[in-house]
Amino acid sequence: MILLASNENPLGMPDSARRAAAEALAGAGNYPDSNGTALKNALAARLDVPADWLTLGSGSSEILELAAQVSLKPGEGVVYSQYGFIVYAQAAAHAHAHATVVPSRNFGHDLDAMRAAIGEDTKLVFVANPNNPTGTFIDATPLAAFLQSVPAHVTVLLDEAYTEYLSPAQRYDSIEWVRRLPNLIVARTFSKAFGLAGLRIGYGVSQPALTSRMNAQRPRFNVTTPAQAAAVAALGDADFLARTYELNTAGRDQLAAGFKELGLEYVPSSGNFLMVRVGDAQAVHARCWPPASRFRCSAPTACPNGCASASACRSRTARCWPRCADRGWALLLRSVRPVRSVPWPPRAPARCSARHSGAWAWSA
Ligand SMILES: Cc1ncc(COP(=O)(O)O)c(C=O)c1O
Repeated sequence: MILLASNENPLGMPDSARRAAAEALAGAGNYPDSNGTALKNALAARLDVPADWLTLGSGSSEILELAAQVSLKPGEGVVYSQYGFIVYAQAAAHAHAHATVVPSRNFGHDLDAMRAAIGEDTKLVFVANPNNPTGTFIDATPLAAFLQSVPAHVTVLLDEAYTEYLSPAQRYDSIEWVRRLPNLIVARTFSKAFGLAGLRIGYGVSQPALTSRMNAQRPRFNVTTPAQAAAVAALGDADFLARTYELNTAGRDQLAAGFKELGLEYVPSSGNFLMVRVGDAQAVHARCWPPASRFRCSAPTACPNGCASASACRSRTARCWPRCADRGWALLLRSVRPVRSVPWPPRAPARCSARHSGAWAWSA
């Protein structure tokens, strides 16, 4: 059974991080360092910010939740884009806030419409770059202009869970924006390119006033000792990150070329997944429903306007993951190794478990 539901790194965790986590287990009879000092120091050096600009979370999901907790009172407003990451809606609900979901433009953020949606009661805005599940990317210039235009009383959470997959031409310095904007939190994770999803560790970068409010809300021992140690090791493992980047870029290009050849429409992706129109996604899902051994599919969120997404990748076997249930789109993660040929529709039986319908499976 291969889980394909969360865009993890198909290389798994780096050996360096595995060793560090195993060593750290020896001390796991004690509570973790609640400040995460070693990791914060490593991040501070890497990002060139003081350590008190950092908040560690049990995954960056916790950073998103903390941002909502410190920014929103019941009834206040939060703004995010259609096809936003599921946790934005959950964090809004946990804070009893009112969510304004701004229609996307070409599956990406419509920043003008999002700016217009910010009202008197708005206290938080989520922006994901790249976006999950659509893979769309906002260039640095319009993004910086948007951030600058948001009123100071509104917190902006810039979610950069997939930032390591950006091409050199796309990369931008969001930490510099944090230096200028006291209302900005940049959230990043060790779950994706760093390969530590199961250890649950991510971080937020923001100026000290906002950071201290986040840390005050944070459960004291929210990040385990092995997770902290593994993150320090992964952060220093440039080879692993380079390998991850190269593999992803090649696989993503390969899938895009395959879809082109097959005449399937897809949304160009800047992440480690790709969304493709498969026609009747419900039917495709039905085809991968009968039990077999190589796939597990799930579709946890419903997209309101006809989009289903699945991610597929493969190392020794294939992975696939349909994420948004709807009619016609599937999101496919890139393959890890060159795919010789792409059977379509999938021939091999696949095993799927779907929480919603409309999923899609990929077959080697
Ligand atoms: C856009 C986005 N943000 C944040 C996350 C949170 O990841 P984690 O909590 O594992 O750091 C994810 C995970 O899928 C994501 O896709």
